[in-house]
Amino acid sequence: MKALVYHGPGQKAWEDVPDASIREPTDVVVKVDTTTICGTDLHILHGDVPAVTDGRILGHEAVGTVTEVGDAIKGFSVGDRVLVPAITKCGRCEYCQRSMPSHCQTVGGIGWIFGHLIDGTQAESVRVPYADTSLYAVPANVTNEQAIFLADSLPTGYEVGVLAGKVRPGDTVAVVGAGAVGLSAILTTGLWGASRVIAIDTNKFRLDKARDFGATDTVEAGDNTTADVLALTGGVGVDVSIEAVGFPETLLTAASLVRPGGTIANIGVHGVPVSLPMQDMWIQNVTLTMGLVDTVSIPTLLKMVASGRIPAEKMGTHSFTFAQMDEAYDVFKNAAENSALKVVITPS
Ligand SMILES: NC(=O)c1ccc[n+]([C@@H]2O[C@H](COP(=O)([O-])OP(=O)(O)OC[C@H]3O[C@@H](n4cnc5c(N)ncnc54)[C@H](O)[C@@H]3O)[C@@H](O)[C@H]2O)c1
Ligand SMILES: [Zn+2]
Ligand SMILES: [Zn+2]
Repeated sequence: MKALVYHGPGQKAWEDVPDASIREPTDVVVKVDTTTICGTDLHILHGDVPAVTDGRILGHEAVGTVTEVGDAIKGFSVGDRVLVPAITKCGRCEYCQRSMPSHCQTVGGIGWIFGHLIDGTQAESVRVPYADTSLYAVPANVTNEQAIFLADSLPTGYEVGVLAGKVRPGDTVAVVGAGAVGLSAILTTGLWGASRVIAIDTNKFRLDKARDFGATDTVEAGDNTTADVLALTGGVGVDVSIEAVGFPETLLTAASLVRPGGTIANIGVHGVPVSLPMQDMWIQNVTLTMGLVDTVSIPTLLKMVASGRIPAEKMGTHSFTFAQMDEAYDVFKNAAENSALKVVITPS
């Protein structure tokens, strides 16, 4: 089969590899019908994730068809249409039982293994370990182009942003960064009845998209971001401030927007230390949350997509075939200048 193989920083190739096959009785093999690229794949290609070594097939998001099942599999059969999520879980370890499979002990201490610790989903087929407890059946009225965004970005914005931030009816929510993850938070704040959602980004295209995804207000990030957002809230600040970029300055911005008693929900992956003004923050009774997505909200999100409450398909702006994998990466890497959010990649 063919797959996108990582060959060290800056190097990848769509090339021949051995077919994905069953190794454990708890495995299934899924033929990949739709995949996409995540910002994390770009981090890997920069060489930022040393656990990913030469020869690893990239990708941790897929929708596909089961083609082979291991002897222990009870919940899936050949021909089933399934969502392969970014997080793999055994379902039994202490963390899985606490609904925190992001730290599944059985699969390696971290639930994100595809395109990281084992071969991933940017391939014609993928071996899925612990398939009974990790895969999700895709409802008939949910398309592949909708389901693919439930593998990672939608659950991330919802779980690490909206749920961790404890958005409640009537709340005013700020979202710093309107990429796929920030837009996913914007798209799902409405489920908890936020009355206002303020999107903040440096990119005008992303701010336009934010309105389309449900933001009531937009603020172009710059020197006056904090003052502009405070002005929109009558000087009070927001109830929940979600950070979806991953830079020190954007976390500081998110922290500067929250009212006393509010929550700062950090989603961004940070690469360097951040100095927070604790001398001002301690007296504000604010909560700061952070974490790796668990993807445990996928069943809820699948229902909301199936019923039409979440238009997940809006996330896909560009489509490519497997043969155009390099082009797909180029467009995604330069997303802002290409007016791109997420790319949809299919066999042909
Ligand atoms: N916690 C998790 O489990 C988890 C999972 C997936 C992704 N992430 C992280 O979430 C973050 C967002 O991911 P994404 O895929 O949406 O990324 P993205 O690059 O598509 O979006 C980031 C957005 O931030 C905007 N931005 C950049 N600088 C800014 C600034 N100074 N002020 C305001 N906006 C600014 C960009 O224009 C862009 O729209 C990343 O750090 C990613 O690694 C975390
Ligand atoms: Zn990802
Ligand atoms: Zn587990």
